[in-house]
Amino acid sequence: MTDVPRPNVRIHPTADVSPKAILGEGTSVWNQAQIRENAKLGKTCVVSKNVYIDFDVVIGDNCKIQNNCSIYHGATLGNGVFVGPHCIITNDRFPRAVNADGSAKGNADWTVSKTRVDDGAALGAGTILVCGITVGAWAMTGSGSVVTHDVPPHGLVMGNPARLHSFVCKCGNKLQLVSQVTDGAAMSCPTCKNQTIIPKNDFEKLV
Ligand SMILES: CC(C)(COP(=O)(O)OP(=O)(O)OC[C@H]1O[C@@H](n2cnc3c(N)ncnc32)[C@H](O)[C@@H]1OP(=O)(O)O)[C@@H](O)C(=O)NCCC(=O)NCCS
Ligand SMILES: [Zn+2]
Repeated sequence: MTDVPRPNVRIHPTADVSPKAILGEGTSVWNQAQIRENAKLGKTCVVSKNVYIDFDVVIGDNCKIQNNCSIYHGATLGNGVFVGPHCIITNDRFPRAVNADGSAKGNADWTVSKTRVDDGAALGAGTILVCGITVGAWAMTGSGSVVTHDVPPHGLVMGNPARLHSFVCKCGNKLQLVSQVTDGAAMSCPTCKNQTIIPKNDFEKLV
């Protein structure tokens, strides 16, 4: 029995969802996914096959978590975040199974580094977020990225280590530079024609 109401939530019979996890209205959880205690998911999320969502993880509304992702304790996802297949959001920057004396580490023997993925951001397939970073709103990571630093809003990073190669529109297409303005760069989307201002500090991080 669940401790919390779950209106219109679909949970596949093979999924393992803690009764203490909170799932927003209209969220779907597919085969063999595991959602741990006190994880909190918003409305209309999709948690695909074989996903692992650790205890206390916070996920906003309208997020899509694709097959085989692992999202560990300390992670927070905003609204509308896309997590491509086989992504990992880590939480222990210097991992060890044991203490220096060889004894098994317990819950108190390690430090959790928090990681955020802000509204609208998308992680390409197989992205690994090294913990303690923020992926900004509407940013995107290329498939196979190992992300070791913060990604600015709208930033497109790729590679290992991931570097900032471009900026992307809310619609997902790459932005083109229109003009430099006093405090940044005016960029335009060739597909949807929307303009986005990228702050100077972020624009200067392009490789
Ligand atoms: C990162 C991405 C958005 C770039 O798209 P793009 O700008 O159209 O890229 P291009 O194909 O023009 O490639 C530009 C350069 O980046 C390289 N590149 C492209 N994707 C890359 C990636 N993921 N990692 C490293 N390098 C990449 C290309 O090899 C190319 O370099 P080259 O000119 O030296 O050959 C896209 O390749 C990507 O990885 N998308 C995510 C797909 C995904 O995982 N979807 C998840 C749902 S299944
Ligand atoms: Zn666009």
